[in-house]
Amino acid sequence: MGDLTGTVAVVTGGASGIGAGLVEALLEAGASVVIADVEQAVLDETVATLGERFGHERLTGIVTDVSRAESTESCARQVYERHGRCNYLFNNAGVGGGGVAKPWNWTPNDWKWCFGVNLFGAANCVGAFVPRMLDGGEEGWVVNTSSSNGGYQPMADLAIYAASKAGLTTYTECLANAFAETGAKLHAAVFYPGGKGLLETRLWNSGRNRPPELAREHPHVDPQWDYQQVKSRVLANGGQIADLVEQGRSLLHGLDEGRFIIAADTASVGELMRRRADRIGSGKLPTVEEKGVFS
Ligand SMILES: NC(=O)c1ccc[n+]([C@@H]2O[C@H](COP(=O)([O-])OP(=O)(O)OC[C@H]3O[C@@H](n4cnc5c(N)ncnc54)[C@H](O)[C@@H]3O)[C@@H](O)[C@H]2O)c1
Repeated sequence: MGDLTGTVAVVTGGASGIGAGLVEALLEAGASVVIADVEQAVLDETVATLGERFGHERLTGIVTDVSRAESTESCARQVYERHGRCNYLFNNAGVGGGGVAKPWNWTPNDWKWCFGVNLFGAANCVGAFVPRMLDGGEEGWVVNTSSSNGGYQPMADLAIYAASKAGLTTYTECLANAFAETGAKLHAAVFYPGGKGLLETRLWNSGRNRPPELAREHPHVDPQWDYQQVKSRVLANGGQIADLVEQGRSLLHGLDEGRFIIAADTASVGELMRRRADRIGSGKLPTVEEKGVFS
């Protein structure tokens, strides 16, 4: 990974999980980092722990709810007041939808919350940061974290999450094209975490950050994501737990290589998409059988 000394990166949802792994990889590479996260206690802990290792002057936290435009605007204002620039905007904050359900059982509050964070959250950050990044005239990147679930192929019982990530993937493609068409020095990329190993994060428990006014309305949404059961099955099948800092390093490596799609194995994704395209070409449901990490 190249030397990022002198650059400033903002990581939404960087207090835990994949985002925290990315923050560590950025600090290793020399960047100054701002974590924008809604969960104050975990944010403070991550900033304290990583600040101790890499230098408190290089890492700050701003409590931000990405689903609220006034909150992302305030975050961008604070970042520019402190650093005068943002070179990397990582829209990583995401929620799992709060359980599993048949597609017809999700209700308005589920949609508002999941889309509010996963899709509108990224759009709010783009709206707050990109005009400032363009004005600054420096080279920069906007990286949106999607998911194989929705980005490549949807999982039926997680339709709400899949739809939000499909939207985010398309939005990122539009963003990249708009940057190129306008001659901006900005680039957009879409990141698909994953590869070898189960991602041991708190996505399974996203409901911890769900606003009370958007509480679940339908009893058929099963909130019981039994992560331990999935983990036992993965380990029993010879699987492993992924290294989250390594995920962050490979994301930065992908940016170094100028990739738009950053995923562990784009070749096999391409093969999956060709099989889906063949089915679309003959008017069939595109979904192909895949053995995923949850099986
Ligand atoms: N874990 C997986 O298997 C997996 C797979 C593919 C993609 N992803 C994506 O990776 C990203 C990171 O998720 P994770 O697995 O590390 O989960 P996580 O729950 O450990 O981390 C998500 C972070 O987002 C923050 N967050 C939630 N709502 C927010 C809001 N409104 N405003 C600001 N921050 C908010 C949380 O506080 C948390 O720190 C998400 O976009 C997720 O969809 C995860």
